[in-house]
Amino acid sequence: MILLDEDRKELLEKIRDYAKTHKHEIPANKVPVSGKVFDEEEIVNATDAILEGWWTEGKYCAEFERSIASYIGLPFATTVNSGSSANLVAFYSLTSHKLGEKRIKKGDEVITAAAGFPTTINPIILFGAVPVFLDVELGTYNVSASDVEAAITKKTKAIFLAHTLGNPFGVEKLRKVADENDVWLIEDSCDALGSEYNGKKTGSFGHIATYSFYPAHQITTAEGGAVLTKNPMLNKIIRSMRDWGRDCWCHTGQENTCQKRFSWKLGGLPKGYDHKYIYSEIGFNLKMTDIQAAIGFAQIKKLPKFVEKRRENFNYLKNRFIEEGLDQIFVLPHAEAKANPSWFGFPLTIKNGINREKLLEDLNKHGISTRLLFAGNIIKQPYFTNNKIDYRIFDRLENSDTVMEKTFWIGVYPALEKENLEYSVKTIKKLVFGNDR
Ligand SMILES: Cc1ncc(COP(=O)(O)O)c(C=O)c1O
Repeated sequence: MILLDEDRKELLEKIRDYAKTHKHEIPANKVPVSGKVFDEEEIVNATDAILEGWWTEGKYCAEFERSIASYIGLPFATTVNSGSSANLVAFYSLTSHKLGEKRIKKGDEVITAAAGFPTTINPIILFGAVPVFLDVELGTYNVSASDVEAAITKKTKAIFLAHTLGNPFGVEKLRKVADENDVWLIEDSCDALGSEYNGKKTGSFGHIATYSFYPAHQITTAEGGAVLTKNPMLNKIIRSMRDWGRDCWCHTGQENTCQKRFSWKLGGLPKGYDHKYIYSEIGFNLKMTDIQAAIGFAQIKKLPKFVEKRRENFNYLKNRFIEEGLDQIFVLPHAEAKANPSWFGFPLTIKNGINREKLLEDLNKHGISTRLLFAGNIIKQPYFTNNKIDYRIFDRLENSDTVMEKTFWIGVYPALEKENLEYSVKTIKKLVFGNDR
């Protein structure tokens, strides 16, 4: 039953009042790495989307897509059901026959980083292209643009890199390198919503950008993601691949947008075969629901404040770590001069013989949550050692091994206040220096 407008308004106001009573404060002696930060707006929007009774991709998805695109400064955004799906669609769109000679083919090489998240790399492997692994720098946890340039060969078709923990890689130079070598650049911006390089949002430099809205990220839709591009042709392929590979571009619920639904003649199909059931790409179904998008639409309005707070928290931790002499123990994170990260976390690499696992266990016992820099050196993961994966290493992966053995990160997300951050600093100081200082 769909409620009438007046009933719905009244109900939503009651829900708003109820949601306002929820408190999300974090005690001073707890420091989660991340979490959802929301208020009654998300609850009201999600309820409204449920009451609407539409549920699949609808008006909230359209609004949310417009908002993300405008925030990043790109014309096209497509919502998907996770950041991993965003990466899958982004990569597969570059394998489309519509791109002719520029399409990525099986056996082509794709430059990426060895230290990062698996689903940046997995689409390359699944498709049958060859990942070329580059080492990262300690402190930025990104590959250097000059290494990427040196790693390019005749077989290279794309560069697919993440802005590690929200810290932008040298994306301006890399776009230039990509153009000079006629290769694609995909920015995995899953951890970097709000990050900037030379005053422009990351995600707007490459041919395609991907985002994740899992709760640990700058905004959340529970599960969710988005794929952005400036290129209308890529946008068409991206939407088609997301939506089963269909040729028809009608939004859910629309019919005959092309005005010739029963007149197409494509492939070996008979003339007039219903355009809704014509598939021109090898596609998936990775759509976001309107309920998720409704949450995202409330979240994105808070994004500028979230980004500001993440930066503030990061700077507080960095200054306090230096003041307490913790830079003797850890490599502290830093960004390139032109980069202004929307930090996902505060990464630390142990410089001396301190046992990382023992330190993390102690921190967790003290209520300070920690995470590793995702997969460490990906080629050491069991899914690599247990499968015959074709890959190439450029030069060395020494720092990626160090990341695997010595790096971890702690939280800077917007719900953390000075007391929580100070508790992190004091506890880490006590654990690494003992009671001597
Ligand atoms: C760099 C990077 N890419 C992709 C993803 C995948 O996002 P999701 O968890 O939404 O699938 C993540 C996850 O956090 C990530 O850190």
